[in-house]
Amino acid sequence: MTPKERLIVALDVNTKERALGLVEKLKAEIKIFKIGSELFTSCGPSIVEEAVNAGAKIFLDLKFHDIPNTVRKAAIAATRLGVFIFNVHALGGSDMMKRAAEAAADEARRLKIAKPKIIAVTVLTSMDENSLKKIGINDNMEKQVLKLAKLAKDASLDGVVASPSEVRLIRRELGEEFIIVTPGVRPEWAAANDQKRVMTPKEAIDNGADFIVVGRPIIEASNPVIAARKIVEEINGST
Ligand code: C5P
Repeated sequence: MTPKERLIVALDVNTKERALGLVEKLKAEIKIFKIGSELFTSCGPSIVEEAVNAGAKIFLDLKFHDIPNTVRKAAIAATRLGVFIFNVHALGGSDMMKRAAEAAADEARRLKIAKPKIIAVTVLTSMDENSLKKIGINDNMEKQVLKLAKLAKDASLDGVVASPSEVRLIRRELGEEFIIVTPGVRPEWAAANDQKRVMTPKEAIDNGADFIVVGRPIIEASNPVIAARKIVEEINGST
């Protein structure tokens, strides 16, 4: 993978014009764009189709979490939209993840397109051990993250979303082939915003992340193209 292919830009805006404007502006620098709940709920699935038609690879970040049959059908719909990656909550359980993986593979085969990569959210990075306890989970954070990452791998998922502080552990325990996508990444020149435990792009990649997700330091920059270029250069300097 080239450094350009490792950077995912979060399209955290709520109109089609702004989202597609960013894709047009950045597509020479960036290959993958993340569409999350806000943009998807504001604009509907056509935003995914239009971004794909504009040449973007899409990470559909809707974190499916429902009964297996419902997530299976959502996986088919995401595959039909032609996304490159989509995600589910590992807390939905093994059966839910297996059904999503099987359905996406079957649908991609039927349509003769590449199967989307399916990754799992383990524990949201907004949660700490105290909030885990409140929902009845008494394991420490590392144990819980690792348990859910293993469950995802055993269910044939392709990887996980992981905070910078978890990347090294997951890479060590789950091997080189397992995809790790890491948000909470900040170049030294950018503000942390509300991200608490940040790492630089170089640190995240050196620790074992395959892809990093960056939103505000690029989309709110006075010149998003230059900001994206600087981050790609920083990834390029990783070992
Ligand atoms: O602007 P910023 O770089 O903080 O955006 C990070 C993106 O990654 C946002 O879309 C956010 O929702 C997402 N994300 C995250 N932490 C997670 C999962 C997703 O910041 N654990």
